[in-house]
Amino acid sequence: MQSMRHFVISSLPRAVAGRYLSTTATLNMPIKEGDKLPSVDLYEGDPGTKVNTKDLFGKGKSVIFAVPGAFTPTCSEKHAPGFIQNISQLRDKGVTTVACIGVNDPFVMGAWGKALGADDKVRMLADTGATFTKKIEMDVDLTAVLGGVRSKRYAMVVQDGVVKAIKAEPDNTGLACSAAIEVMKLL
Ligand code: BEZ
Repeated sequence: MQSMRHFVISSLPRAVAGRYLSTTATLNMPIKEGDKLPSVDLYEGDPGTKVNTKDLFGKGKSVIFAVPGAFTPTCSEKHAPGFIQNISQLRDKGVTTVACIGVNDPFVMGAWGKALGADDKVRMLADTGATFTKKIEMDVDLTAVLGGVRSKRYAMVVQDGVVKAIKAEPDNTGLACSAAIEVMKLL
């Protein structure tokens, strides 16, 4: 019975299926241009230092990039360094805050920031329980390689708390459209 119901529902166009399943199913709808960022507490450096997304990104122009994991090769050698190295160009384009979000604990994000020389350039924010990442539907199960649920790799431009542009990597972990050089074209 369950498999027949699944077959019938999954054969329907998405919008129609959504109507019939409205109390039980959520369609996969990651955050998109025009959406407001959710208000979620992230952590910076230690679990006692909360940074609320609405407070940090609610005013001005921000760039957020998210990584599958601190200290992983692509994140460490290419993705994060791209934003750190281009901080002056980002500021020249009116960006007031650049933040990196990872589903890691705040000590790890802090140590990673120090190792990268992120200092006062890029805020290294821990989404410890993946609350923010799940709310914007950017979570991905990387249990096999990184031990749990992590963030897809993406970058977004946020103006006064609203998403102005977002680029998510189609394969979740590769680096192309969310690289600093590409994000700067969106500003
Ligand atoms: C990386 O190099 O960034 C990476 C490695 C394994 C899984 C996800 C990302």
